[in-house]
Amino acid sequence: MVKSSADVGALVGSDESAVRDFHSYSNPQEVRVRHVDLDLGVDFEQKILKGTATLTFEKVSQKSNALVLDTRALNISMVEASADGRRFSNTEFTLGANDPVLGAPLNISLPEGATGVRIHYATSPGASGLQWLGPQQTAGKQQPFLFTQSQAIHARSWIPLQDTPQVRVTYTAHVRTPSRLMAVMSAENNPSALRNGDYRFRMVQPIPSYLIALAVGDLRFRALGRRTGVYAEPPVIEKAAREFIDTEKMVEATERLYGPYRWGRYDLLVLPPSFPYGGMENPRLTFATPTVLAGDKSLVSLIAHELAHSWSGNLVTNATWSDFWLNEGFTTYIERRIIEAVYGRAREEMEAALGLRSLEEEMAGLEERDRVLHIDLKGRDPDAGSTGVPYEKGALFLRSLEETFGRARFDQFLKSYFAHFAFQSIRTEDFVSYLKANLLDKYPAQAARVPVEEWIYKPGLPESAPRPASDAFARVEAEAKRWLKGEIAPAKIQTAAWSTQEWLHFLKSLPEDLGSARMSELDRAFRLTSSGNSEIAFQWLLMAIRNRYEAAYPKLEEFLTTIGRRKFIRPLYEELMKTPEGRERARSIYRRARAGYHPIAVAMIDEIVK
Ligand code: BES
Ligand code: ZN
Repeated sequence: MVKSSADVGALVGSDESAVRDFHSYSNPQEVRVRHVDLDLGVDFEQKILKGTATLTFEKVSQKSNALVLDTRALNISMVEASADGRRFSNTEFTLGANDPVLGAPLNISLPEGATGVRIHYATSPGASGLQWLGPQQTAGKQQPFLFTQSQAIHARSWIPLQDTPQVRVTYTAHVRTPSRLMAVMSAENNPSALRNGDYRFRMVQPIPSYLIALAVGDLRFRALGRRTGVYAEPPVIEKAAREFIDTEKMVEATERLYGPYRWGRYDLLVLPPSFPYGGMENPRLTFATPTVLAGDKSLVSLIAHELAHSWSGNLVTNATWSDFWLNEGFTTYIERRIIEAVYGRAREEMEAALGLRSLEEEMAGLEERDRVLHIDLKGRDPDAGSTGVPYEKGALFLRSLEETFGRARFDQFLKSYFAHFAFQSIRTEDFVSYLKANLLDKYPAQAARVPVEEWIYKPGLPESAPRPASDAFARVEAEAKRWLKGEIAPAKIQTAAWSTQEWLHFLKSLPEDLGSARMSELDRAFRLTSSGNSEIAFQWLLMAIRNRYEAAYPKLEEFLTTIGRRKFIRPLYEELMKTPEGRERARSIYRRARAGYHPIAVAMIDEIVK
């Protein structure tokens, strides 16, 4: 149990006690689920998962005789209860009204002595946490593909459970697929399992529901290191193995900083391009977008990020989505430390400087309540609270602690924080009291220089916030100026040794109204419209929309109809929607692209392209 000095009574925060989660109907304060056992068939024809979820629970309050679970669009045919985990018999259940954000509560009556329930159910074809892909949407074009995305509150659309990060469960699963396909989960996988359509998994460490994950497709495996490897479709597997060759080194670097990797293996899964995120930290098996396969390892900070979550997020977990910055801010900070350890300080500072810049740009357009770290999400969809603020502002806060207390002390502090809260779900207040006891109170002179309350509860950045800057970027800006002033021809800009990060900084430092003639000059010299680097292509396409650079429109259309990564498609549609002709283009592209997007992306782009 974690002691919290910040609060008393029913709101004392820790893994096991009451913390109100506005995004769950479940009742873990009365009955707490401890283990989930899945038995699911994967039906690509009907686009449904069908089978049973057997939940084992403990009664926290002896009085309670009901278990309340979260569901969204599940078809429940029967619920049984058991006192011994072997003999099950029918029990009553009611499904409450559906809420557009939260789904519907499933209320199950518990007979005297019950320790488990078994729910017989099927998902809906439009389940928000599943994407069913036809062969055309895959790299191999031969076989269908299915993947789940449970964070933030989509696990409930494919498993009836207590869908709150306060509840940690172990899980086992038996998954049946068409026989040529392979299933993998955020659990112990057997890379050499017979490909016979019958797969078994177990996750023996307790994890929150948002980390339960499944993917099914024509997958191959390549080992990368002693305990690291990558799964991908056959046409992608070699490229993926080359791109991610440094993964083992990253795990070693993180262990040196923050203590042992606690999950056994660390594998990666490369998904089809419609995957709505860059990456997802599913334990033992990070899910990743294929858009990071740049060919030169220049975008692998995404792997560092998802790996870092093995400490910040998966080991020490945000108790509610208002505490999301505890996951993402810590992770972004650690991501940069891994990049520094493996690729050097110069690369790290470039990425930190790019991060600061995008934070400042994004914050300018955000409401005050969204510029704070501990965010108020009452009545809101947690996916809506997902901006760059918890990531970059959170990382700057930790960097400011590092710089103030010194790296050695701060590293030691973080390492002990992970050991102290391992396998627990905590609130912002729990972190603050641990920080106070283990760092602030020990070094009061330094503590006086960090406005902790302001960082966490006030909008924007404190005066004293660190300002990461890069010498290399200063040189890039000087080159850009010479070209803009007409002193040199584009071909004379010294780009030969530029990294992806320098290219990105170059493009971002050009004026927004550059004009299509100058865009064309750059394109002739550097072939930016056909860049194979997704980040550079994205930045260039954004500029193409702003400057009506028509030569890039076919590429824009191709990009938006093949890639579903939220970080790229949202800003492109938003930019298009700013002018009447852009709106036309957005609508016509979206008409063709929509069917290929993930339900989470569809919900978001529907709002933009009304
Ligand atoms: N856990 C997040 C992805 C996420 C956040 C999914 C909120 C659903 C709700 C993951 O670790 C992440 O942050 N991914 C980033 C990439 C990262 C390099 C910043 C992304 O997908 O953009
Ligand atoms: Zn993250």
